[in-house]
Amino acid sequence: MQAMRRLVRVLVVLGVAVVTTSAQGPTAAPATPTPATPATPAAPAPKAATTSSNITGVLAKGGQFNTFIRLLKSTGVASQIDNQVSNGGNGITVFAPTDNAFQSLPSGTLNSLSDQDKNALVQYHVVSTAIPMSQFDTVSNPLRTQAGSASPGEYPLNVTSEGQQVNITTGVVNATVANSLYSEDSLVVYQVDKVLLPQKLFGTAEAPGPAPLAPAKKKGKTPATVADSPEAEASPDATTASLAPARLTTGGGLAAALALAGVWWGL
Ligand SMILES: *[C@@H]1O[C@H](CO)[C@@H](O)[C@H](O)[C@H]1NC(C)=O
Ligand SMILES: *[C@@H]1O[C@H](CO)[C@@H](O)[C@H](O)[C@H]1NC(C)=O
Ligand SMILES: *[C@@H]1O[C@H](CO)[C@@H](O)[C@H](O)[C@H]1NC(C)=O
Ligand SMILES: *[C@@H]1O[C@H](CO)[C@@H](O)[C@H](O)[C@H]1NC(C)=O
Repeated sequence: MQAMRRLVRVLVVLGVAVVTTSAQGPTAAPATPTPATPATPAAPAPKAATTSSNITGVLAKGGQFNTFIRLLKSTGVASQIDNQVSNGGNGITVFAPTDNAFQSLPSGTLNSLSDQDKNALVQYHVVSTAIPMSQFDTVSNPLRTQAGSASPGEYPLNVTSEGQQVNITTGVVNATVANSLYSEDSLVVYQVDKVLLPQKLFGTAEAPGPAPLAPAKKKGKTPATVADSPEAEASPDATTASLAPARLTTGGGLAAALALAGVWWGL
């Protein structure tokens, strides 16, 4: 038992010694952790630098834009967009058609285009202003794309929006903006369900025909709807109103006739 107690005391003493020693240690040690602390803040800095967005990186993440990525690269528009984005300015908006959208084009559509036309087709999907979803209702049609002139028959692009729903018409195709893939101050990327075919490259002789009709509809749309609605609402009311008295009159006439008949028969 005494041996045990001694052993315990020895261990206690040793333990205290160890604790004391290690307690002294930290005094010297802090020197090492201190330089480590500045090293940690240094790490996030490079991270922030690598977050610089690039169009093909954004689209690759989307997973269904392989054809568009290929076109962006082969035409050189990808690096042009990246430069524009990093230069700031008004930013860039990209309408990215899905692989499905490209697949639903008539076969040979892309192959029939010259390199210059391919470039124009891709630029037609790019607007040199960052347009967040909430601002589509403020854009004035036609929107000018990087393909050039927005005059009829050239590269006009019209956007109509209602809440979160945004439609695009080129005069050749109507597309729907499915969702925003990326939205930052200088770069906004939307998914569209159709390849935006410009009139300049794909418009037939008929295209200019329907185009003039569209503005008439659009310009008159609000007033027309307002004018139509009251009429539409008024007519059913008028109908019921005029029908009801008519029935009453008829009913009244019948009743009167029956009463007369009754009186006559009664007589
Ligand atoms: C583009 O961004 C992706 C990540 O989004 C990155 O992996 C790639 O290295 C970037 N490419 C360029 C050229 O910066
Ligand atoms: C967009 O187009 C769809 C038909 O594809 C239509 O139902 C919808 O009303 C349109 N929305 C706007 C805001 O133009
Ligand atoms: C686009 O909108 C403008 C202005 O409303 C109109 O003049 C033009 O015809 C429209 N173009 C197309 C392709 O719908
Ligand atoms: C696009 O939509 C307009 C009405 O919003 C319609 O008149 C036109 O025919 C459509 N064009 C195509 C190619 O579907």
